[in-house]
Amino acid sequence: MNNKTVLITGASSGIGLSFSHKFAQDGHDVVLVARSKDKLLSLAEELEGKYSVKAHVIDGDLAKTGASNSIYEQVTAKGIEVDTLINNAGFGLFGEFEQTEISKEVDMIQVNITALTELSKYFGKEMVKRKQGQILNVASTAAFQPGPLMAVYYATKAYVLSFSEALANEWESHGVEVMALCPGATSTGFKDAADLQQSKLFQSGVMTVEEVVDEAYKKMTQKKVVIIPGAKNRLLAGSIRFLPRRMVTKFVRKVQERI
Ligand SMILES: NC(=O)c1ccc[n+]([C@@H]2O[C@H](COP(=O)([O-])OP(=O)(O)OC[C@H]3O[C@@H](n4cnc5c(N)ncnc54)[C@H](OP(=O)(O)O)[C@@H]3O)[C@@H](O)[C@H]2O)c1
Repeated sequence: MNNKTVLITGASSGIGLSFSHKFAQDGHDVVLVARSKDKLLSLAEELEGKYSVKAHVIDGDLAKTGASNSIYEQVTAKGIEVDTLINNAGFGLFGEFEQTEISKEVDMIQVNITALTELSKYFGKEMVKRKQGQILNVASTAAFQPGPLMAVYYATKAYVLSFSEALANEWESHGVEVMALCPGATSTGFKDAADLQQSKLFQSGVMTVEEVVDEAYKKMTQKKVVIIPGAKNRLLAGSIRFLPRRMVTKFVRKVQERI
C-alpha cells in the first residue's frame, strides 16, 4: 500500500487500536474515531511520535443519530481524503432476549449496522468518484449462523457480512474494494462489554488481537472479500453451511451458555 489516510472507528481499544498501530507503522496517516477522547489523544501522540505520521482524532458516539454525518463533516472540513475506511466500532450483549435492555440493543443496531452503513455511504461515494478506495467492515464469525443468548448481536453481524459482500460486487467495477472481516472469539475488551465473562465461548481457542489484525492486514492486499482469521474459524464457518440450521443454532446456544 502507498501512503494513504485510513479512518478507523473504535480505535481506542482492541482490534481498532491494533489496526491503528499497523497502518501507522506502515507510514499511513490515520483518523481515529471512538468515544474515549483521552485515549485517542494519547494514541495519536504515540503514533505521531513513533511513526512520523499524522494522526487526527474525532471523538463521537456512533450510537447517536447524526454522529456519522458529523464525523464525515469534520473530516471534510479538515480537507482529509479517506482512502481506507475501517468500520470496526461495535459491541455485543449477552443474555436472554426478554431480560436484556432494549435500549442497549437499539444502540447496538445503531453502532453495528446504521453507523457502519452511513459511513460506508459517505466515504464510499467519494471513493467511487475517485475510482479507488478500500472499506473493511468488521463482522464476526457470528455472521454465519443465528446466536441464541446474543440474538441481536449475531443478527447485526449477519447484516454486516451480507451488506459488505453485496457492496463488494457493486463497487468492484468502480475500483473500490469492500471486505468483511470475520474474527472468532478474540481477546479484547469485547467480552466484558458484552457481559460474556461466564460464557463458554471465551474459555478456549481465543485468538490474540495481534494474530487477528496481522492476518487481516495481509489478506487486505489479496482481494479477498470475506476474511476469516484463524484456520479453526475458517473450518467452522465453512462446515456450518452443510449442516441443518436448527442443529447449528442449538450447538451455538450450548457454546454460549454460562459455565
Ligand atoms: N473480540 C471479539 O471476540 C470479536 C469477535 C468478532 C468480532 N468482533 C468485532 O470487532 C469489533 C471491535 O471489537 P473489539 O473486540 O476490539 O472490542 P473492544 O476492545 O470493546 O473495542 C470496541 C471499540 O468500539 C468502540 N465503540 C463502542 N461503542 C461505540 C460507540 N457508541 N461509538 C463509538 N465507538 C464505539 C470502542 O470505543 P469507545 O468505548 O472509546 O467508544 C472501542 O474502541 C466489533 O465490531 C466487534 O463486534 C469482536
